Amino acid sequence: MSKPVFKVAFIGGGGIARTHMKYLKTLEKVDICAAADVSEMSLKRLNEEYPDVEQYTDYKQMLRELPADCQAVDVCTPNGLHAENTIAALDAGKHVMVEKPMAMSSAEAQKMLDAAKRNGKQIIVGFQHRFDAKTKLIRDQIAANSFGRILYVRAQALRRRGIPNWGVFGRKELQGGGPMIDIGVHILETAHYMIGSPRPVTASGGAWTYMGNKPSEVASVWPGWDYQTYNVEDLACAMIRFDNGTILVIESSFVAHIEKDIFNVTLMGEKGGAVWDTSQIFTDHGGYQMNMTPGWLGKWDVFEYKMKHFVDVCREGRKNEAPGEHGLLVQKMLDGVYASAEKGREVGIE
Ligand SMILES: NC(=O)c1ccc[n+]([C@@H]2O[C@H](COP(=O)([O-])OP(=O)(O)OC[C@H]3O[C@@H](n4cnc5c(N)ncnc54)[C@H](O)[C@@H]3O)[C@@H](O)[C@H]2O)c1
Repeated sequence: MSKPVFKVAFIGGGGIARTHMKYLKTLEKVDICAAADVSEMSLKRLNEEYPDVEQYTDYKQMLRELPADCQAVDVCTPNGLHAENTIAALDAGKHVMVEKPMAMSSAEAQKMLDAAKRNGKQIIVGFQHRFDAKTKLIRDQIAANSFGRILYVRAQALRRRGIPNWGVFGRKELQGGGPMIDIGVHILETAHYMIGSPRPVTASGGAWTYMGNKPSEVASVWPGWDYQTYNVEDLACAMIRFDNGTILVIESSFVAHIEKDIFNVTLMGEKGGAVWDTSQIFTDHGGYQMNMTPGWLGKWDVFEYKMKHFVDVCREGRKNEAPGEHGLLVQKMLDGVYASAEKGREVGIE
C-alpha cells in the first residue's frame, strides 16, 4: 500500500525551520502545507524558497485553518514560545516536533507532556546528536556491557569566545538561560541518552557572567553582540548525580579562557571508558591496556535522520527515539543546574 502524503506545518520560520524544510523536501510524499511567523523578513525569505507554503502571521489562526489531514506541526520558535506553541498544536490534534531545548523549564515541559497524553499525540524533541553514529557506537557498547558500571561522565560544550551576535541568545526572559540551555543541552542530552537516560537526583553547580554584559574589543568570530540586553551566564558548570550512582559533570560556555572550543563526552566505567568525538574505547584485554577504534563506524547526516525519524514516528508509528519524556529529564537537569547556581548549594531534583 502506498504511503499517504505527510502534511506538516511550521510555527517559526527562521534559521532552523529552513534547515528542517530543506531536509523534509528530500523525503518522499512530504508536503509542507503552512508556516506561521511574526517577522516579515522571515516570511519573505521563506516565500522566496517555498512559494507554495501558505503563510500566516498568527500561528493560532494557522492551527485553526490547517487541513484535517495535516498530521504534524514543527515548532521552531525561540525557547520561550516552545511550550505555548506545542500545547496549542497538540490541542489542535497534531503531533509535534519541538526544537531543543524542549522548553524553558521542567514545569513547562511537564505541561507539554500532559497535553500530548490528553490528545494521544507524540512529542519529538529536536535533539539530533543522539542520532550520530558516534553516539550509537557508545550506546551499543554500554548495552553490550563493554564498560561495566558507568561511574563518571564528563560532558563539555565549551566555546572560548562565541557569544551569538544575532537572535535572542543573551536574553534570559526569552531563552531561559545562556550557553547551558542553548549548547550545553545538546551535549547533556547526548551523554544522558548514551548512558541509558538515568533519573537525575541532585545538581550542584555555578553560573557566571563576566564578559557578555560588557563591551569587548577582543577579536572574535562573532563580535558586537548586544551586551546591553545580555543577562545570561557566560559559563556554567555542574555536577549531576543519578539514582544509579553515576556522576555526570557538565561544562558549557559562550566565553571561557581555554585553548580551544570543545564539544565532547568522556566516559569512565569499571571495565572500560570512551571518548565520544574520536570514537575511542579504552579497556584491558589479553594482559594489555588497549585503545580501540571501530574499523567501520558508518556515517550519516544527523539532520536527515532526525527529519526522517520525525516523519516515520508520525506517519508510520515508528518508535519515538527522542520522546518528550527524555526532553523533560534533560530539562530537570538544566533546572537543577540553574537553581543550584542561584542558591550556591546542591539542590535536589524532583
Ligand atoms: N537543533 C539544533 O541544532 C538547533 C540549531 C539552531 C536553533 N535551534 C533551536 O531552534 C529554535 C529557533 O532558533 P533559530 O536559530 O531558528 O532562531 P531564529 O531567530 O532564526 O528563528 C526563530 C523564528 O521564530 C519567529 N517567531 C518569534 N515569535 C514568533 C511567534 N509568536 N509566532 C511565530 N513565529 C515567531 C521569529 O520571527 C523567527 O523567524 C531555538 O529554540 C533554538 O534553540 C536548534
